[in-house]
Amino acid sequence: MYLTKEEERLLEDPNPSIAKAMEILIAVGKIFKAEKLVSIKSAHVSGISYQNIGDEGLEWLEGINAKVRVRTTINPAGIDLKKWKKMNVSENFYQKQMRILNVFKKLGADLTLTCTPYLIYQPEKGDILAWSESSAIIYANSVLGARTNRESGITALAAAIIGKTPYYGLLLEENRIPNILIKYNGEINYKTLSLLGLKVGEILKADEIPVFKFKRRLSNDEMKILGASLASAGDLAIFHIADQTPEARTDTVVETLTLEIKDETAYCDPDVVVFGCPHLSKDELLDIYRFIAKNGKVKRKVWLFTSRHLIERNKNIVDKLELNGVEVFADTCIVVSPLAKSVNSVLTNSGKAYTYLPKLRGVKTYLASTEDCLKKMYD
Ligand code: F3S
Repeated sequence: MYLTKEEERLLEDPNPSIAKAMEILIAVGKIFKAEKLVSIKSAHVSGISYQNIGDEGLEWLEGINAKVRVRTTINPAGIDLKKWKKMNVSENFYQKQMRILNVFKKLGADLTLTCTPYLIYQPEKGDILAWSESSAIIYANSVLGARTNRESGITALAAAIIGKTPYYGLLLEENRIPNILIKYNGEINYKTLSLLGLKVGEILKADEIPVFKFKRRLSNDEMKILGASLASAGDLAIFHIADQTPEARTDTVVETLTLEIKDETAYCDPDVVVFGCPHLSKDELLDIYRFIAKNGKVKRKVWLFTSRHLIERNKNIVDKLELNGVEVFADTCIVVSPLAKSVNSVLTNSGKAYTYLPKLRGVKTYLASTEDCLKKMYD
């Protein structure tokens, strides 16, 4: 791999954290036969919840002594920084999570603690990024037309420290072109999009990139749900929607699949109804708020997950939701925190939560459309 004089010097940098970051980028570059490193506009680092990385991860992070060179945002942590006492979390867990966050503070990262960093700082078409968090990666590539490979927390952090990433994979035009057309004519809601995403994510081969054909345009939030499901079912990091997303085209397609999704409503009696995987946008928060404003106090446990950024800008709405019995969490989510330990069953409108909660947290999980989830709060 070609290295500039400056990059060669960084490999020998007296600061071992910088030299190590360069080594990581070069090792990845060699595996994927990258010809060089390229500058990035931003990094997004996942894997920062103490629940997921434990003492080993914490110690590794505390060994880092460097500064990030580009805007760096971070994924949800294992706690809501303000409400952690309500979350079934020990003092020890809290202290260790705070030590992790302190590492990122010293690195100069922006402590966004959200999996929807694009709702705070939106990358532009063509921007090169080094992002981890599969739902954010696929959104950046597909909906925004920015370019990022599916980084791990470690490679995204190395890229943040150096300000560069190896030039390969989805950073190259030729690896972003759709070759399989997915036609779907059925009803469009969060449940059907989730099931469609999970199905397509499972059946696609490694070199296949889908372009969807829907009967109408999807909202940004619908694309967020579809993308999160696609990415949680496999390794996919980009999709296109004909006549909608910035790099969509159909002239390159070599195969067409027509899929149907059955949207059967199964009875369920969940301990909690959960919204916000990925983190809620303002529109989603408002939709839930309007429903609750009409119907009053909820009859079940309801948890919403979003960013601190959004909560701080919508305090009135959040206060009213909480007065009506809804718990609104920031900085964390049900998958990366210990919250799920306090329940046996969950109802969600997200294919990603539907995939991960049973696997990672051992919780019985049901999937329904947003409308059905909203009704279930009063049933
Ligand atoms: Fe975000 Fe947690 Fe879902 S990090 S995408 S809300 S699993």
